[in-house]
Amino acid sequence: MIQDWLEARREGREQSEKEIQAFVTAVVEDSITRAQAASWLAFVYCKGMTSAETVAFTRAMTESGVTMAWPGLQGPFIDKHSTGGVGDKVSLVLAPLWAELGYKVPMLSGRGLGITGGTLDKLEAIPGFKTDLPLDQLRGVLEDVGCFMNGQTAEIAPADRILYSLRDETGTVPSVPLITASILSKKLVEGLDKLVLDVKCGSGAFMQSAQRAAELAESLHRVGTGAGLEIETHITDMSQPLGLKIGNALEVEEAVECLQGGGPTDLIDLVVQLSGCGERARETLANGAAYPRWRKLLRAHGGDPDAKLHGGGCKTVVIEAPKSGVVTRCDAGDVGRCAHKLGAGRENSGEPVHFGVGVILHAKRGDQVQAGQPLATLHHVDQNLEIALKYIQKSVVIE
Ligand code: URA
Repeated sequence: MIQDWLEARREGREQSEKEIQAFVTAVVEDSITRAQAASWLAFVYCKGMTSAETVAFTRAMTESGVTMAWPGLQGPFIDKHSTGGVGDKVSLVLAPLWAELGYKVPMLSGRGLGITGGTLDKLEAIPGFKTDLPLDQLRGVLEDVGCFMNGQTAEIAPADRILYSLRDETGTVPSVPLITASILSKKLVEGLDKLVLDVKCGSGAFMQSAQRAAELAESLHRVGTGAGLEIETHITDMSQPLGLKIGNALEVEEAVECLQGGGPTDLIDLVVQLSGCGERARETLANGAAYPRWRKLLRAHGGDPDAKLHGGGCKTVVIEAPKSGVVTRCDAGDVGRCAHKLGAGRENSGEPVHFGVGVILHAKRGDQVQAGQPLATLHHVDQNLEIALKYIQKSVVIE
């Protein structure tokens, strides 16, 4: 049978929902070889997939593991997914904000890979915070707090875990139907009414061109809707970092500033935009009303909201403006590579990250600066400092 499936994919013939389901089951049950599964993925990478096939593939991956449901709890159940960016700490603010505004947010997040950070790595900078609460505890947290922020357990979408690692090994990650199914399969398990998708576009994002970002956003919308979810997609800028702080603990600090009524304008504006709640969301942030919800969330996950974040004791080095003028470029890709080299990110999955290292920006695009004025402060532990300095210097253009 596998030979028929491979031939269909190789020739670009549409497969039935049943065949796709059988393929996913065979992957999870290990009844086909890794080479066969990898060929199937490579053919999809080269020949694409129809919408109906992508919906069937997404559903089959979702159903390859446990799914969550919330009988007896009052919704609406909502979540957001970002395709990842530099300084993107929106989830940390949006989950307690939505909970404060009356939504239930059953958020399952991932770790960072490459230059983009992951929500779990940021949360683990908080002493005691557990991102691996068992599924049976999560319902209680959702009921008490209105949101949870957990990692994906082994029982969730196991097919995606196996196939993603094969894609990673075989260079087949950047395929729109495969990305679409991978992202949505993990969100469909959450028992949501609505999913907000933030597709990042620019040098610090997975999708670097407007055309690729639009293609992914359109596919996510079409397939998510086809799988029965209400989907709202946004394409947002990742040509410069979001906010001023990049790095795990630094981003938690900035998210807390935002929840306490401060924080940088671009972060606040994006949180408000994605919340879909307009002025109500802006006011809730400005008056700090969602901050007690954040503290409750931390305690529910075993975290201490008053403890110093992990990763303290880093050294700092300040980068000054070499001349006066206007900052015309503050490149997300270069700033991300700088933070990554300092140890904020990982090269391979499973590696530890350093919680304290990272970058604080003192100027972004459009800001007027004087020669000698601080442009950025690097928090470091003497790891790769020279190369990190090169990236940060290259990230900024003053004209
Ligand atoms: N994130 C995912 O979860 N899957 C992909 O394929 C790409 C990004």
